[in-house]
Amino acid sequence: MNKKHRKYMSNNYKIAVLPGDGIGPEVTNESVKILKVIGEVFQYNFEFNYGVMGAEAIYQTGNPLPDETLELCKNSDAVLFGAIGDPAFDNNPDAKVRPEQGLLKLRKELGLFANIRPIKTYASLIKKSPLKKEIIDGTDIQIYRELISGIYFGEKFTDENGEYAYDLCKYSKEEISGITHLAFQDAQKRKKKLTLIDKANVLDTSRLWRKIVKEIALEYPDVTLDFMFVDNAAMQMILDPKQFDVILTENMFGDIISDEASVIGGSIGLLPSASIGKDNGLFEPIHGSYPQAKGKGIANPVASILSAAMLLDYLNLNQAAEKLRQSVEHAIESKFVTVDLNAEQNYATSEVGDFIADYIHFSEKSYYNYENIQLGKSTIV
Ligand code: IPM
Ligand code: MN
Repeated sequence: MNKKHRKYMSNNYKIAVLPGDGIGPEVTNESVKILKVIGEVFQYNFEFNYGVMGAEAIYQTGNPLPDETLELCKNSDAVLFGAIGDPAFDNNPDAKVRPEQGLLKLRKELGLFANIRPIKTYASLIKKSPLKKEIIDGTDIQIYRELISGIYFGEKFTDENGEYAYDLCKYSKEEISGITHLAFQDAQKRKKKLTLIDKANVLDTSRLWRKIVKEIALEYPDVTLDFMFVDNAAMQMILDPKQFDVILTENMFGDIISDEASVIGGSIGLLPSASIGKDNGLFEPIHGSYPQAKGKGIANPVASILSAAMLLDYLNLNQAAEKLRQSVEHAIESKFVTVDLNAEQNYATSEVGDFIADYIHFSEKSYYNYENIQLGKSTIV
């Protein structure tokens, strides 16, 4: 019996928690807080087991992904991850061991071939966007990024003199097919449009993607498929993001395009992501480790909390996921937000988590109700 089947049979779920580096631990704390409340309200039994990964793991063990952490993830139903990265390594090109290697190895070992990044805007935050309201209002994109192949995982080489280096980009039919089917299936539930982003005018790997995606498209005749070169896509994302529904792309283009798309909504602190494999899923905010904010209690926990909602979806706990998303929207609409979203009136990372947890528990009767917030009466203001 595989893990998916086990999930249908009990209300017990093992969740591996990897807080990681920078603001990772702070935002992940809030997601765990929220999942605990969800567990109480919906009667699920979540078992949280913590592991180290990234710079933190290098400092403690010398290894960015210790074997224990990998085993923990393999034996869990899902992984909740915070962030990775540390300036001490970024500024040292000679470092042999890097925090990011931990995440890349984990993705590969768990076979997390599809990275899903939803891009949305919130009405009350539209003013925060660097783009004009007319351009972004109503943007709703689902990005499917291939995650365990391409240039990230091809052979790498640097010669002894440090004067010549390469990274090989390769793809196989099998690697392209898996994620392509997922993206088409999602498009069928949405606006039925899929855009493959590539560089088929230059790269052989991109031409292979086009060929295979065209073949697979025949199985999904209700979905309109189109193609866009990545340089044009970077421009179109700013000019007219509403033209996109589902985007499908290879590993590195997906890394870049999703970062670009992530700021459309006004803050990178809002967007979650899911990395899905055959038998496991990892859920993490799109934002990085933001080391400058570490320990200050100012990081926005929403991206991590929405990643927990994607985790609930993955476990087929859709009602709970829905409740969680509504509660996040309630916080944003009530302007109960961190400093990145409101410079004048804002709340600490853990206060935003408390507000959302409280709403999940008590809904309209929530202690942090709207009038209190507006009047500044709430004791936590
Ligand atoms: C991401 C990150 C990672 C990536 C890094 C940390 C290795 O930027 O998840 O997008 O490039 O995939
Ligand atoms: Mn990235």
